[in-house]
Amino acid sequence: MRIVVVGVGNLGLAIVRSLLNSGRTSDELLLVERNPNDRRTLEELFQCEVVGELPQGTRLDAGDVFILAIKPQDAEASCAAFPGVLHPGSLVLSVMAGVSTTRLSQWLDHAKIIRAMPNLGASINESATAYFPTTDVTEQDLERIQRIITALGKGWRVDKESLIDVATAVAGSGPAYVCWLAEQVEKVALEFGISPEDAHAIVLQTFRGALLYLEHSKLSFAELRERVTSPHGTTAAALSVLQDSGGDVVVRDAVRAAFRRAQELGK
Ligand SMILES: NC(=O)c1ccc[n+]([C@@H]2O[C@H](COP(=O)([O-])OP(=O)(O)OC[C@H]3O[C@@H](n4cnc5c(N)ncnc54)[C@H](OP(=O)(O)O)[C@@H]3O)[C@@H](O)[C@H]2O)c1
Repeated sequence: MRIVVVGVGNLGLAIVRSLLNSGRTSDELLLVERNPNDRRTLEELFQCEVVGELPQGTRLDAGDVFILAIKPQDAEASCAAFPGVLHPGSLVLSVMAGVSTTRLSQWLDHAKIIRAMPNLGASINESATAYFPTTDVTEQDLERIQRIITALGKGWRVDKESLIDVATAVAGSGPAYVCWLAEQVEKVALEFGISPEDAHAIVLQTFRGALLYLEHSKLSFAELRERVTSPHGTTAAALSVLQDSGGDVVVRDAVRAAFRRAQELGK
C-alpha cells in the first residue's frame, strides 16, 4: 500500500511522523508539499520522496491511500489538480475541517472517502479522532484506514457526517479548552507568589495526574470531582463560585459556539 500525503504542515507532519512510528516505511510514503523550505526539511527528517506537486501521469493503485491535509480554503483548487490520479478502489482520507464528503466526491470524482477529525494529540500518537466513511467504503477498506487512524491515537467511527462537526467542537478544539482552564489556574498561582516555572509545572502535573487517575480508575468525570470535593472544603468553595456564576452554562455555550462555527465553515 502506498500512502500519498498532500499538505505536510502542522497536521500532515504529525500524520507522517505517526505513520513512520507505527511501522510504515519511508518508501511507502509520497509527500506532496508546495512549500520548498518545508520540502527540504521533510526530506532530511524522513528520507522519503517529497514533491511540490504530483508528477504528471501519477496513478494510484486500488490499495493506495490519498490523505488530504491541506487547509479547507485550498481544497477545491487543489483537488482540481488531481484528475485521473485516483483509482476507483483507492481511498481518500480527508482531515480537513468543514469540507463535506459530498463536495470532495464532486471535486475528485471519487466515491470512497473517509472524513476524519484528528486533534493536536496526533503529534504524539494521542489523537482523539472521529471518522466517517461514505457508503462506498467497505469493511475491508475501513481496516486499512483504521490502521492509519490508530497510528495517530484512538479513533471513533461516527454514523452521521454531522457528528464530525460535534467532534470538531469537542475533540478538535478540546486541547484549547484544557489550556484555557490551566491558564486561569496558573494566573492565580502566580498572583499569590508561586514562581512562573513552578506554577506552570504544578498546574501541568495536576492536570496530568487527574487525567491519568481518571483513565486508571475508570471513574466518570463527575464521580472523580465528587470524590475530591469534601463538604465545605476548598474544592467545594471553588466549585460553588463556578456553579453560582453560571460557569457550567458558559462552558457548554462555548462548546456549542465551536460546533456552530464548524457547521458554518462547512457551508
Ligand atoms: N492543526 C491541527 O491540529 C488540525 C486538527 C484537525 C484538523 N486539521 C485540518 O488539517 C488541515 C491542515 O491543517 P494544518 O494546520 O496542518 O495546515 P498547514 O500547517 O497550513 O498545512 C497545510 C500545508 O499544505 C500546503 N499545501 C496547500 N495546498 C497544497 C497543495 N495543493 N499541494 C501541496 N501542498 C499544499 C500548505 O502550503 P502553504 O503554506 O503554501 O499554504 C501548507 O504547508 C486543515 O484542513 C485543518 O482543518 C488540523
